[in-house]
Amino acid sequence: MKTTNKNKMKAARIHQYGSSVEIKLEKIAIPVPGEGEVLIKIFAAGVNPIDWKIREGYLAELIPHRLPLTLGWDFSGEIVSLGKNVNKWDISDAVYGRPDLSKNGAYAEYIVVSEDEIAAKPKTLSWQKSAAVPLVTLAAWQALKEFSAVKQGDRVLIHAGAGGVGIAAIQLAKQAGATVYTTSSSKNSGFLKELGADVVIDYTQEDFSTLENVDIVFDTMGGDVLEKSWGTLKKGASLVSVAEVPSEALAAKYEVNASFCFVQANSEQLSKISNLIDSGKLTVEIDSVFRLEDIAQAHERSESGHTRGKIIIQVLDEPGS
Ligand SMILES: NC(=O)c1ccc[n+]([C@@H]2O[C@H](COP(=O)([O-])OP(=O)(O)OC[C@H]3O[C@@H](n4cnc5c(N)ncnc54)[C@H](OP(=O)(O)O)[C@@H]3O)[C@@H](O)[C@H]2O)c1
Repeated sequence: MKTTNKNKMKAARIHQYGSSVEIKLEKIAIPVPGEGEVLIKIFAAGVNPIDWKIREGYLAELIPHRLPLTLGWDFSGEIVSLGKNVNKWDISDAVYGRPDLSKNGAYAEYIVVSEDEIAAKPKTLSWQKSAAVPLVTLAAWQALKEFSAVKQGDRVLIHAGAGGVGIAAIQLAKQAGATVYTTSSSKNSGFLKELGADVVIDYTQEDFSTLENVDIVFDTMGGDVLEKSWGTLKKGASLVSVAEVPSEALAAKYEVNASFCFVQANSEQLSKISNLIDSGKLTVEIDSVFRLEDIAQAHERSESGHTRGKIIIQVLDEPGS
């Protein structure tokens, strides 16, 4: 098909791995949905640490990408066209999702995704806040509910409580009836207590590794934090990490179950998450909002490692704004 200006869109892409200077805002062809796929007009995209890790090439062996690559794997938007044999969705449906990490992402005006990897966006949330939800909330859901079966009365230690994943995890663990310990710097302590954390440990002043008898450690940091977490667990407990593959030898030494959780798109879980949000049981925290033109700055902010909640990219003007 010949590409005219009418079927072109803005997309933030990299042509080679490297620093944020590699991100180029370009005009490219609007993709066409294939069988079982939908075309979505994106209003907002979420920024996650994996975006700049992929940009740097850190995951090049794990996820082989074809360059140029549009970055960004969280979005909210409206369905504007349907491929063949799409059964679940219609034009104008308001949806959100974490698209396939191996394909082009959501720092663009349009994206094509499988009809199976999206869900109806929460009715009570703006497009920006909706784009903040999928990746981190699915990660917290899968780590806590699938990998470690969190339940009433569990003592759960969640690292980096003020990060995107941590904020979702604290709320999901509290809903399950757990007692939540979380780490953050002192500036986030009040915020995390309001969110529901029972004990906030200021990692700049206190040593979390003196904790004992923990049922679940949710590691979002890796490195020293993961190393020092083993000793907090009771025998038979669970350690689940989204940051680093835990050592099998240490899991055996401490007699605990340890696993690495790599978040999967899951439309059914995302629908349940929408319901939780719409019934006021899950809230979303936005750290900052950038324009598509300013993605390099958004990445630099994410790379600082000290945001509270999510960084959002406002892609297209929202309807009614
Ligand atoms: N495997 C997967 O599928 C998967 C899925 C999602 C995320 N992840 C990974 O999980 C990690 C966390 O993701 P995220 O989106 O939550 O990141 P994020 O939003 O960038 O996390 C930022 C937070 O980290 C906190 N922090 C920094 N150093 C800390 C420390 N030493 N102890 C405790 N808190 C600390 C900061 O709190 P202060 O400002 O208070 O320091 C800040 O609130 C990333 O590495 C990401 O790539 C993996």
